[in-house]
This record gives sequence, structure tokens and C-alpha cells, in this order.
Amino acid sequence: MTETATWADRPALQQPTYPNAAELDRVLTHLRSLPPLVTSWEIRRLKGHLAEAAHGKRFLLQGGDCAESFSECQDEVITSRLKVLMQMSLVLVHGLRKPVIRVGRVAGQYAKPRSSDDETRDGVTLPSYRGDIINGPKFTPEDRTPDPNRLLRAYYKSALTLNFIRALSEGGFANMHHPEYWNLRWAGDSGHADAYDRIVRSIREGLEFVGTLTSANLHDLERVEFYTSHEALLLKFEEALTRTVPRRDEPYNLGTHFPWIGMRTAAVDQAHVAYMAEIDNPIAVKIGPGMTPDWLRDLMRTLDPNQDPGRLTLIVRMGVDGVEDTLPGLIETVRKEGRTVLWVSDPMHGNTRTTTEGHKTRRFDDILSEVDQSVRIHAAHGSRLGGVHLELTGEDVTECTGGARGLADADLHRAYRSQVDPRLNAEQALEMALRISSLFRTLYA
Ligand code: PEP
Ligand code: CO
Repeated sequence: MTETATWADRPALQQPTYPNAAELDRVLTHLRSLPPLVTSWEIRRLKGHLAEAAHGKRFLLQGGDCAESFSECQDEVITSRLKVLMQMSLVLVHGLRKPVIRVGRVAGQYAKPRSSDDETRDGVTLPSYRGDIINGPKFTPEDRTPDPNRLLRAYYKSALTLNFIRALSEGGFANMHHPEYWNLRWAGDSGHADAYDRIVRSIREGLEFVGTLTSANLHDLERVEFYTSHEALLLKFEEALTRTVPRRDEPYNLGTHFPWIGMRTAAVDQAHVAYMAEIDNPIAVKIGPGMTPDWLRDLMRTLDPNQDPGRLTLIVRMGVDGVEDTLPGLIETVRKEGRTVLWVSDPMHGNTRTTTEGHKTRRFDDILSEVDQSVRIHAAHGSRLGGVHLELTGEDVTECTGGARGLADADLHRAYRSQVDPRLNAEQALEMALRISSLFRTLYA
């Protein structure tokens, strides 16, 4: 895309101010010359899958860190995250009896929206931490000053992460015949090990059964599809990876398969919406408590004027106490427009609280309850929840309370690592998948 792109004339919220504009331009020129991270074929394939999910034929599992960090671009972190997503998807396939689309908040989830541009500590004011693609988390002028070279580092870290995910997905542990490879270190002593083992056994028997009945090439089951997503927040970075491809009029964001925008940057007449309207990827918008019927209608008309199947996903994040009052109205607004969208629940971002010790956390039961209510409200209104969007990690962290191990507020200090939002740990994430799976089984039995 060029500088004349329409979004460039509109106000863009949540953008950093770089002290060195010439350096930023140099970096952007360099970025524009580098190869894309994903292809338009992959993007179109995902869009097809999302279109099917919107019609209840697939289910979307989207999950990963609130914010990736450069320092955690490591073998163990990436492998564990992929493993827990694989385990969850297997549990969901089993419970929902339909294919699951696996999408990571990964390989580019480096920019964070903040409620304030600055942070003050002991009388010192510095720019807020906005994610590793912009500045560093330490409260020092060196770390907090936005640095254009971080855009390049984000590109390289995304490429390294994606390269490793692609290699893992091509064989080895992602082999559907060997789900035991996906076990995490803790799985043996987890309360869920039995339930998970039963599912693994039944899937293996199912595969062997299919193998005995058909001479079909089961090679397809030896690799898994895995897609990437991140919040398209830092527009100059997104633009530098937005490219036209042969035989297509609309450009694609080739830095990720599935970008989303948050409500903070979803004003219809502003830059983020204008940018998203121009690209041909499947896209998502977060929908929070402040959404109005008119705003939602205008967003749908602007972002998906042709009612392109799979194009638009609505990620609803109302909080456990808000979903009952707000979701029916949203469903009605979409119905009045005569549209089919993919409805996803993000039960994380409306359920954040701070403990008396000062930890930002979320309760397992609030998260589960928001999903539970969403599934039921959709069913009661002739609609269908088609996916979940979760913040999780494959590591054994203590950031969210509850779950089978009953983590309490006082336990959080043990392994609290997130720089931003609290994530489900691997065990809580698997338990969440088991609970969501049985929820669907009970409701749609
Ligand atoms: C996020 O997904 O990390 C996030 C910031 O969400 P939201 O924009 O919905 O608050
Ligand atoms: Co978050």
C-alpha cells in the first residue's frame, strides 16, 4: 500500500510518538522490502474455514499470550503453547463433534493498547509500556522511549516463531496418530490426566477404525493446520506488511492470517477501521460493554460491505455480569441486518480484577460462566457461539485463580510472569476446554 491509503488521513488512536522520525521511515522502508510471513492462499483457506464456523460447521479456538515478549521467543515457550492449544483442540473436537480451527495469538502479538499514554511513579512520568514492538517494560527512560528498531525485531521474532510452529505442525508431535507427544511436563500429575487420556484413547481408536475401513491416505492427519492472529494496533507496521498479490485487487495483510482490532480503536471514521476495510483478510472486532446497535451496524457495513463469507468475526467480551444484558441485543442487531457473522466469546477481558496484594487476575469460574452464558444465550436466540478467544500459556504460571487446583489470591505471587493481562496456565486451559466441551455436549446432545 502507498502513503495515499485512506487510513493514513484519519486519526489513529493508541500510536506511539517516535522521537526519531527519520529512523522510523528507514525501518519502514526496510520492512517493506522483506518477504511476507504468511501467504494469501493460507489466508483464503482460513477465511473458508471461518465461513463454515459461522454456519456451525466448525469451531474456532483462538488463544495465546496477552502480549508476546521478545525474550520469550524460545523453544520451550513456543512448544508448550502449541501443545496446550493442540490438547484443547483435541478435547473440543471430541466434545463438539466438529473440526476445530486453531488460531494462536502468536507470531506478532507485540503491541498493546493502554488506557493512559503515560505512567507516573514517585513523581517521575514516562511513556506507558505499549508492548515489545514499541518500547520496553522497565520503568527507565531508555526502555520506555519508543524505538523504531523494535519494529524490525518484532518482524524477525515473528518469523522465528512462525518458522518453528510450521516445522512442528508438519510432523513430529503434531501427528494426530500420536497425541501422547503433546503431553506437557505436568500432565502426569494433573487432575485432568485421566479425562484427557480417555479422549486420546478414543480418538486413536477412531483413527484406527477409519484406517481399517478405508484405504484413504491418512497422511493428512499427520500434520495440523495452525493459523496466526494479533491485534492490528501499530498501523505503520501493519501497513508495511500489507501487500498486493497477483490476480487480486484488494491487498492482504501478509504479516498475519487473522488480524483483529479492539473497541478502543474501532471508531468507524478513524484510521484502524479504514485500514481493516482495505485489506482482504478475515478480520475480527472486539465488542465490549460500550457497543451500541448503530455503531455495530456501521462497523458491519464498513468492514464487510459485500457480506463476504468468513470475513467478519465478532469477539464479544462483556464480563460475567454484562453478557446477559448485552448479548441478546447484539444478536438482534446482526439479525436485523440479515447477516451471518462468526460469534466468538472472549471471557477474559471483561473479567479482570486486582487482588489486595495488587495482582491483576481473573477467576476461572467467571471465565467459564461467561462462556456458559454465551452458549446458552445464543442457543435461546436461534444463534450459535462459534468459538472462544482465550489468554493462556503452556507454562505453569499462577496468574488466574481457581481451577481444579483451587489457586487462591495468595498463591499468585509464586509464578506471576505476565507483563500485562493474567493468562490461564496450561492446566487451567485444558480444564477450560474440558468444561466447554461438556457444556456443548449437554446443550446440543
Ligand atoms: C487483548 O486482547 O489483549 C485486549 C487488549 O483486549 P481488549 O481490546 O478486548 O480489551
Ligand atoms: Co489481554
